[in-house]
Amino acid sequence: MAVITEIEKYKDELVRLRRDLHAHPELAYKEKRTARLVSELLKSWGVQVDQGIAETGVVGTLSTGSGPSIALRADMDALPMAEANTFDHKSQHVGCMHACGHDGHTAMLLGAAKYLAEHGQYKGTIRFIFQPAEEAAGGAKRMLDEGLFDSFTVDAVFGMHNWPGLAAGSFATCPGPMMASLDCFDIHIAGQGTHGATPQRGIDPIMISAELIGALQTVVSRNIDPNEPAVISITKMHAGDAHNVIPAQAHLGGGIRCFNPKIREILCRRIVEVAEGVCSAHGAFAEVEFLTQAPAVINTPESAELACQVATDIAGGEKVVSNVAPVMVSEDFSYMLEKKPGCFMFIGNGEGEGGCSIHNPNYDFNDDVLTLGSSYWVKLAESFLSEAVVD
Ligand code: NI
Repeated sequence: MAVITEIEKYKDELVRLRRDLHAHPELAYKEKRTARLVSELLKSWGVQVDQGIAETGVVGTLSTGSGPSIALRADMDALPMAEANTFDHKSQHVGCMHACGHDGHTAMLLGAAKYLAEHGQYKGTIRFIFQPAEEAAGGAKRMLDEGLFDSFTVDAVFGMHNWPGLAAGSFATCPGPMMASLDCFDIHIAGQGTHGATPQRGIDPIMISAELIGALQTVVSRNIDPNEPAVISITKMHAGDAHNVIPAQAHLGGGIRCFNPKIREILCRRIVEVAEGVCSAHGAFAEVEFLTQAPAVINTPESAELACQVATDIAGGEKVVSNVAPVMVSEDFSYMLEKKPGCFMFIGNGEGEGGCSIHNPNYDFNDDVLTLGSSYWVKLAESFLSEAVVD
């Protein structure tokens, strides 16, 4: 790993900071301590700070007054789950844990802000976006709805997520679609309740649910081009309370994921048509409700090329995967990429199973990559704002 020499000197400070964040995780829109810490540090380095965007969001700005502008985004929220780790920096908040490494993302971006404030060589504007509520709570969209890119000029936006399974010291991205869109849905089926002994007097929503689950699996297999990756998973099924009662209602839920916005449109439309059609065939009614949604992460090819060049400069070509296979998980950074060109990057969190995988009670961010991540951010900003002198 060839990190910026000066940033290597921050290593102990960044590790301390990251572990402090890990010990004090906060859920979506409740990242008050985190936002305060981020703001205070940024101010102490002379970075201009704007707070309260999407409640707890923070934007730091460094500017030479003219030239292009780049935004670098980190997320700050933790997950509602109990931590199983026993190390000193384990969560001090019951039922809340940094199990996705957003503590590391925040620390890496802070390390870059400190360096750029003190030693940065660029002409233009750098925005440091510290986003709340990435985990299924729409923080990116809310920041945009509150005028993020209207209040703060941005020509391109870049994001980064640690990636367990990818060796520490490595980077991976790709041009075009990289992470799937997500559309979570609930289907409410209204039938007619009756005694279990007299099905002819009711409309059985459980039988209809069973038929509907099968029918929904024909959407990907019969309505979608086999060359287009897509998945529909039914993950919730609730109905009935008694052995001798056919209930009046049943509820299904699940998620749709794909990479192509046109395919996404077809999938969302067909879920509704199939649900309504199957229910109607049996005299029942279906109501389809869409809940958490996010578009696919689609990288701009030029931005992906720049990101790979920068990663190669720091980590070496053999450590950079420039055409990583897209993954079916989603990430709300996609909303920012809908508005501005840019690129998302995976930074290796280490190979191996178990303790490494995200959203797992034994997860911990790999502190060995903190300075590498900060160096990537710095060189990306300086390269984008060109004529940078790289040490
Ligand atoms: Ni995450």
